[in-house]
Amino acid sequence: MTSSQDPNRVIIFDTTLRDGEQSPGASMNLEEKLRIAQVLEEMGVDVIEAGFPAASRGDFEAVQAIARTITKATVCGLARATKGDIEQVAEAIRPAARGRIHTFISTSPLHMKYKLDMSPDQVYERVIDSVRMARRFTDDVEWSCEDGSRSEHDFLCRCVEAAIAAGATTINVPDTVGYAIPDEFAAIITMLKNRVPNIDQAVISVHCHNDLGLGVANSLAAVKAGARQIECTINGLGERAGNAAMEEIVMALKTRHDNLPFFTAVTSEHIMRASRLVSATTGFVVQPNKAIVGANAFAHESGIHQDGMLKHAGTYEIMTPESVGLSTSKLVLGKHSGRHAFREKLKELSFELGENAFEDAFDRFKALADRKKEVFDEDIVALVDDQIGRAHDRIKLVSLEIECGTRASSAKLVLDVDGEERSCEQTGDGPVDSAFRCIKKLFETAARLRLYQVHAVTGGTDAQAEVTVRLEEHGRTVNGQGADTDTVVASVKAYLNALNKLLVKRQKTAPAALSA
Ligand code: KIV
Ligand code: ZN
Repeated sequence: MTSSQDPNRVIIFDTTLRDGEQSPGASMNLEEKLRIAQVLEEMGVDVIEAGFPAASRGDFEAVQAIARTITKATVCGLARATKGDIEQVAEAIRPAARGRIHTFISTSPLHMKYKLDMSPDQVYERVIDSVRMARRFTDDVEWSCEDGSRSEHDFLCRCVEAAIAAGATTINVPDTVGYAIPDEFAAIITMLKNRVPNIDQAVISVHCHNDLGLGVANSLAAVKAGARQIECTINGLGERAGNAAMEEIVMALKTRHDNLPFFTAVTSEHIMRASRLVSATTGFVVQPNKAIVGANAFAHESGIHQDGMLKHAGTYEIMTPESVGLSTSKLVLGKHSGRHAFREKLKELSFELGENAFEDAFDRFKALADRKKEVFDEDIVALVDDQIGRAHDRIKLVSLEIECGTRASSAKLVLDVDGEERSCEQTGDGPVDSAFRCIKKLFETAARLRLYQVHAVTGGTDAQAEVTVRLEEHGRTVNGQGADTDTVVASVKAYLNALNKLLVKRQKTAPAALSA
């Protein structure tokens, strides 16, 4: 028996790029999605839900690009129960080594009546038609009963049985509105196992939202009851309060194997890297006390705890920082470190750069080490992320001079726009405002600033600032990031990064009746 056939193996289905991207403000461009998909594959995720192709041309192209690139994980696309949606997913996943169509329809009385305006019998027929249609394109078809946890049990059993008979190989039960309580949700899985005659012909999956903070608890309770696929996202990203957090599920199964005798194929040491990448890409900062990936998750501040830790780490630590990819020797490189040490560090942090990109990163590392006494892992991650995010920029920062203090502030900015240098000077309400006024003067757009956020990558007054700027133009939202030891420079880089993303044509329109 291979490990994937082991009855206790739990399939990890990541939906950061689909449900996660549906969080307002968390939109990602094609390159960013590709990078995240690659990291997810490297960490051992089984299924990557890459998007919702019918939502927009951009989503379609992202799913297709991921399908072309990913070789080990299954690449999945979401479709409503319509011919058009299913055909679009089929086309987008066509290049995939392993492709899945995930089609869904609501089964709760509330959704059928008010959202779909369909009778239960009409929904039942649609379940059969949609799954059959999807099966024409692939053998791997997942069917979801949206708002499953609030559906009537008899009707739910009827639909699940029909979906399996029509060819669904995975049956996903979403707690769409995060309403379920663990024992009640587990009972739904037990009920399906007991009452649906053909249930053994499909994998039972769960998809739990976190509106009551129970997404992970509900998912684990469902696994105990027999579910063998969990849908989740990095950092718990997702609609409203988000989805069950993948890092919490993976570490709960690993740490409490005594109580939860199940396992996944995820290499937990990759967790921090994925978490940082998703946070930097979306601008959704991870709260410091967030389980597993928060900055304080492994910090021991109180004297009693520190004393206990020194005597035996197990006193206050139920898992090691290394097991989630945090290195204990945080001080890594300095200005005397050479290429070899830098290359090794990049490898340790799971970055693979081509020769030109490596040389560029090394120069930037040297410049940083000149300005900053101690260079930590977080600094290198921010530096490389910043560089990768900037590779195809049309607007580049050439120079910035700032005057500020207790009196007026002014900025002198030079930009390179498509190879042509443009400069200007502006005064403003503080240095950041002055610099942003220069950008607006040099490159006029209808874009409006929706979020400006700064956080220090490490401690100390010489820490790099990591800035997120969210811009909105004609209903499109993009997040730009910038990192630098100078907060104003980091802010300008973040603003330019967002503008550059707006320049990449990508229309995203919200599809009708999607409350996924
Ligand atoms: O929350 C939900 O019900 C969903 C489905 C489309 C799986 O996201
Ligand atoms: Zn969802």
